Amino acid sequence: MYNSKITGLGFFVPDNVVTNDDLSKLMDTNDAWIQERTGIKERRHVAKNGEETTTSMGVKAAKIAIERAGIDKNDIDFIVFATLSPDYYFPGPGVLVQRDLGIKTVGALDVRNQCSGFVYAVSIADQYIKSGMYKNVLVIGSEIHSKGLDMTTRGRGVSVIFGDGAGAAILSREEDPAKGILSTHLHSEGQHAEELALLAPGMGGRWVNDIVSDNNPEDESYYPVMNGQFVFKNAVVRFSEVIMEGLNKNNLKPTDIDMLVPHQANLRISQFIQKKFGLGNDQVFNNIMKYGNTTAASIPIALTEAWEEGKIKSGDLVVLAAFGSGFTWGSVIIRW
Ligand code: UT7
Repeated sequence: MYNSKITGLGFFVPDNVVTNDDLSKLMDTNDAWIQERTGIKERRHVAKNGEETTTSMGVKAAKIAIERAGIDKNDIDFIVFATLSPDYYFPGPGVLVQRDLGIKTVGALDVRNQCSGFVYAVSIADQYIKSGMYKNVLVIGSEIHSKGLDMTTRGRGVSVIFGDGAGAAILSREEDPAKGILSTHLHSEGQHAEELALLAPGMGGRWVNDIVSDNNPEDESYYPVMNGQFVFKNAVVRFSEVIMEGLNKNNLKPTDIDMLVPHQANLRISQFIQKKFGLGNDQVFNNIMKYGNTTAASIPIALTEAWEEGKIKSGDLVVLAAFGSGFTWGSVIIRW
């Protein structure tokens, strides 16, 4: 048995900054409401008629991670891509990354776990490395939300929160059992599937002929919906549980955490967790203020920024935790 460790990190966000004031020109919202309820000041949206895709952003982030890992792109043994906003209905973006990086015909897997997608993807990569099957796995989380949001007052409870971006990590074999990813913890509770969802029926749910013939502009099912308060209440409970589960598994205490990188869902959720675990401001990393909630991309973007800012050092105990649509949630306990 081996461990895996994160040897390279990278992220990419589009240049186009969308402030809360920009949104207030499109819908009945305002900077004070958004900042007070979510902590978000601005987010990035891809240019409306630009060429950026979920895959292209993921590839840009991946190239930085590969370089920082000090490996050749052909050393990658496997690709795991987490997103809820793929370029195509199928195939998923994993194979497009294999193509666009121009690497040999390694396996590529797509993960559909929304805000927990990166944590699930890291867990999968970790298992392949632990078993000895692969040495280097590329894990990507990337999202383009802006093309799929209801940018009218009707959608304001959802659309002000989400932003576009991508993050990537290289996980590599680590021979020292005390270093790298110590454990991962995954959960789901499908009874709440519809509380945060995009309910447009998939190809198994509705005849394409009917969709084409209906072509109803009033059909709201193509926009994501969220029961915000219910999601919030579940999030704070599940975040806390799954962080404790990871710490307990490794005989650690909350005070052992050097850096908690939570999924950037809402600054108030992160602050609640910080207070609950008695962590200082330098023990929790947040950047939701700049990027909003980028779903599967939020943890790798935040982790990359924390690392770039020198806030993660060798030997630190780093905890990743996520909660979101599904519901799904999970944590990753890392000795850096
Ligand atoms: O990443 C996956 C996990 N997602 C989450 O964890 C999100 C969890 N939930 C949340 O972050 C919060 O519930 C929200 C930020 C989405 C909403 O905050 P809230 O404090 O729960 O507000 P609310 O939904 O209860 O709405 C309060 C009021 C309502 O008006 P009335 O009914 O009191 O008159 C909403 O219509 O705020 C109104 N509202 C807005 N006002 C201005 C909702 N969205 C907006 C908006 N601007 N963008």
